[in-house]
Amino acid sequence: MNWLRELLLPEQATVYAGQVDDLFLFIFYISAFFFFLVTALIVFFVWRYRRRAPNERTPKITHNFKLEVAWTVIPLAIVMVIFFWGFHGYLDATVPPRDALEIRVTGKRWVWQFEYPNGTRTLNELRVPLGKPVTLIMTSDDVIHSFYVPSFRIKADLLPDRYTRLWFTPEKEGTHVLFCAEYCGTGHSVMGGKIHVLSESKYRDWLERGDETTQAMPLPELGALLYQSRGCATCHSLDGRRGQGPSFKGIFGHTQRMADGKDALVDENYLRESILQPQARIVEGYQPIMPTFQGLLTEREIQALIEFIKAQK
Ligand code: CUA
Repeated sequence: MNWLRELLLPEQATVYAGQVDDLFLFIFYISAFFFFLVTALIVFFVWRYRRRAPNERTPKITHNFKLEVAWTVIPLAIVMVIFFWGFHGYLDATVPPRDALEIRVTGKRWVWQFEYPNGTRTLNELRVPLGKPVTLIMTSDDVIHSFYVPSFRIKADLLPDRYTRLWFTPEKEGTHVLFCAEYCGTGHSVMGGKIHVLSESKYRDWLERGDETTQAMPLPELGALLYQSRGCATCHSLDGRRGQGPSFKGIFGHTQRMADGKDALVDENYLRESILQPQARIVEGYQPIMPTFQGLLTEREIQALIEFIKAQK
């Protein structure tokens, strides 16, 4: 009956999709079987028990014990099978494996924003490695949205001020369609996206090089973006004002006095060290409070920040 599955249901791109379809088709076939059985019996009984003589009477039958037991026990058995089968699948779908890759999803009118463990962010395009379990930790910036991927057979709402989860293991390389399945305003119908399932190596490659928009950006421009998005701006001003950390204005190429009394030249190596091991050398008069950005920035992003700081004359 594979042709029926293909006719009725979208492509299966996860193992879970196969499980959902099996149960769905089981219920579908049982419903179809009883639909035809009941219809046939109605037609048959109408014909078989038609009135033959004008004063014919139906005998008074109050009950039939065997028949009543049968029509109670058989449906009960069927719905119990459906219940335990479905419950089993529900547990599978709710509990993600511990080693799953965690990706943050934020829904906002009318885009999907994805954030990867290394800090990479994308809009409307989710990339995942083939065959690896992925957990989505989702929330909304405004109204309720719903993350729906037909070929993965997964769907869950995104709520403001709360986190919801979905997980899946993609089994088919290629592009899959993502929809918003909760009416969220005028842009609802265009609130869609794409899920690209890539081979493990292609995925790593992409993570290292960053997404297309930032890839195309010249280094200082990317640096300016990161300066805002990664929170540098909170502590380091660009106009010489003293913040939690030294201002970036005019520091490049100058010597700074460190907390240990030594002087250090602010060059590329010094900046790189300050980003990755901020506690190594602290400028005199400042607290060692900066977090490390080790693992949170790609090589190119580090260079971009250095170029950006260099440009603050
Ligand atoms: Cu978001 Cu509909």
